[in-house]
Order: sequence, then structure tokens, then C-alpha cells
Amino acid sequence: MKKTVKTSTQKLIFPEGFLWGAATAAHQVEGNNIHSDWWAWEKKGGGAEPSGIACDHFNRFKEDFALAKKLGHNAHRLSIEWSRIEPEEGQWDQKAIEHYREVLQALKAERMKVFASLFHVTVPLWFAKKGGFERKENIKYFKRFCLFVVSLYADLVDFWVTINEPHSVVSGGYLKGIWPPQKRDKSLALTVYRNLSLSHKVVYRALKSEFPQAQVGAVVNFPALHYYGNPLLEGLIPPIAKFITSHSFYLLTGDTHDFLGLNYYLLHYFRFQDLRMKITKKKLEQTILLESSDLGWPIYPQGIYEALVDLKKYRLPIYITENGVADAQDKYRTKFILDHLQWVHQAIQEGVDVRSYLHWTLMDNYEWAFGFKPRFGLIEVDYRTQKRTIRKSALVYAKICKENAISL
Ligand code: BGC
Repeated sequence: MKKTVKTSTQKLIFPEGFLWGAATAAHQVEGNNIHSDWWAWEKKGGGAEPSGIACDHFNRFKEDFALAKKLGHNAHRLSIEWSRIEPEEGQWDQKAIEHYREVLQALKAERMKVFASLFHVTVPLWFAKKGGFERKENIKYFKRFCLFVVSLYADLVDFWVTINEPHSVVSGGYLKGIWPPQKRDKSLALTVYRNLSLSHKVVYRALKSEFPQAQVGAVVNFPALHYYGNPLLEGLIPPIAKFITSHSFYLLTGDTHDFLGLNYYLLHYFRFQDLRMKITKKKLEQTILLESSDLGWPIYPQGIYEALVDLKKYRLPIYITENGVADAQDKYRTKFILDHLQWVHQAIQEGVDVRSYLHWTLMDNYEWAFGFKPRFGLIEVDYRTQKRTIRKSALVYAKICKENAISL
């Protein structure tokens, strides 16, 4: 039976200390990330358009954090760009090191909890030229970078994310071939996936032995996966697909997680149209009637609840590290946030240990191969002037953050 969220006029209150905020990633916001593999790829014509100065967040971070604070955020997620800290193999860039110290201090000055990712899609070009994560022997470079960065900023970061969405890295770079290194090679994809899992394990163990207090985890994307077709397979296909796309990372990395980072965006569905069974038609209709984002991603709020309940078995704190919608006109975002948060609240009521909701994203930014067109921001960016304008939905979200509750 389909689960429904209880609606009432009362407030849905979140646990004390719940973290509210937004997430970003260096290459998508900072601008001029010139030593990365992605920058080199853009130069060769990769993706819809080059990232250029992006949102110029590299220079405007204080202003942006002040806006986040004004919007009631008490947490923020960013990534520390490896290719800035180590632009050439073994050479640490002092200016970049100082820059990120200032960035992290600025967040602390705003009294925000900080999530820092160590690998969010981009790597230094020199590392990519050595074969990146295709080669097991390269893991040592990532480990060295991670140990160095944590030694620099252990006092300023609350949660370390080793890898953001290993599956997306593999799928974009090695299966679909729409991200650098733009390959389509199933066996290489498997190798990279294994090496990413191993990298997480190696880094987790190294960090925990040097910095036992550090909270270390990874971020995995858990799309909702439904199958419509042969009813006998309806219960079978989704768990298998979920295992391949998400749970397999936890199987490969075992007990090397202090917390689970969850990114949730959309519903993927599979169907066999030739099986025109009544039940299938009804379910398909329900699915097709879902609203879609500007990227055509079906908006399915219940999916965040399904993911949370599914993750409960790992008995670890769960931090929602990304959830958002491409919506240039701000038509769907308010409802999107409210609906997803109701389902998050429902999961918490059922005993799932959820501790944060970080919206993707603070401001419009560079959406990887799609370029600047998709608008995921709580804050609109005018790329000609770099002017920031707070969207209406951001104000609704701000009220939730400030009250630690949703009022229905
Ligand atoms: C990634 C972000 C990306 C977002 C929206 C997530 O998978 O971590 O970098 O912008 O999805 O596509």
C-alpha cells in the first residue's frame, strides 16, 4: 500500500541540533579552476560551455556565506579543490592553502558546521594524466592529499567527505562518456569503481589513525528506482538496481564510515511497455503524471523517505548532503522542499537517525556538462554582473531553518 504523509496544521518539528544549509562544490562555483582535469577538458570543447569564473565564489565567498547565514543556515558543505592545493605533483600551493583557511574561518565566523569534500568530480590534471583512479597505484596520491588537507584544517571542519558520488564519477566518465576522461568502457568502469572504493577505505583508515576525532564518511547518491512491467519482477528489479548503483559502495567499503552522506534527486523508472497489464498501466500513469524539473528529472519526494528507510540498516547517522531541483522560474522549489522535508520528517518519526538537510545548492552554478543553464540555486545568479538575488523559495526554506520545523 502506498504510504502517505500525515497532514495537519501543526508544526513538524525536527530533532534538536538538526543541521540546515546548502551544499556546493569548488569547480561549480569558484571560477578559474585552471589546474583541474575538467578545465583542460572544457578547453578542448568538452561540455556545453566553459566554466570560466563561474559564480566568482573564490572572491565572493564572504558575501555568499553572509547570505547563507541571513537565510538561517547553520551548516554548509563545500569541496576543497585538490588541483588548487597541489597544482603540480608534490607542490603545495601556499596561497591556495591560505585561501581555504580563510574560507573555512569565514564559515566558522558565521558559526556554521562545515562539511568538506575531498573529491567532488574534479582532480588535478597531473593526476588525471597519470591515469587518475583507473590505476590502483595512484591511490597513494589521493591519500597524501587527504592527509595533508586534514592536517591543515582539522580544527575548522566538522565532517570530512572522502568522495562525492562514486557512481556518478564512473557513470559520467566511463559509461556514458559525458564527463572527462570521456571513455565508454565497462571493464574500466568497474576498475575505477573498485579503486574509488579502495581509495575511500585507505583514506578513512589513514585519517582515523592520524586524526581519531575526525568524522569521516562518503556521499552516495540514492535515486529512487522503480520498475513497471511484469509484476513478478517488480519486487526484484529495483533492489538489484539499487544494489548496483548505491549499496555496492557500502559493501565494498565495509565499516569505514562514521556517517552516511545521502544525495537524493529523482526517480528513475524502467518499464516493459509490451506487457500491457492493468496494474502496470495504472502505475505508469501515476509515474508519468509526476512533475519534472527543468532537466526533465521526475520529482518524487517519497523517494527520499525510501532511501532513508533503506539506509537505516547500516545503523549510522545519516546526513542529507544534497537534494534540490533545476528550476529557473522557481516554480517548483518551494513545494519540492516542503514535500521532501515532510518525508524526511516521516523517516525520523520512524526511527531513522537523520541529522542534516543540505539543499543543493546555495546559488545557481556550473552544472557540469550541462553548463550554466540549469538553475539549482536558492539564490539566483546573474552571470553578467554576478549579482545575487534571493529566490522566494529560499525565504520559505529560511523560515524552516530558523524554526527547525515545517509549518503546514
Ligand atoms: C552532484 C552535484 C550536481 C548535482 C545536480 C549531484 O549529483 O554532486 O555536483 O550539481 O548532483 O546535478
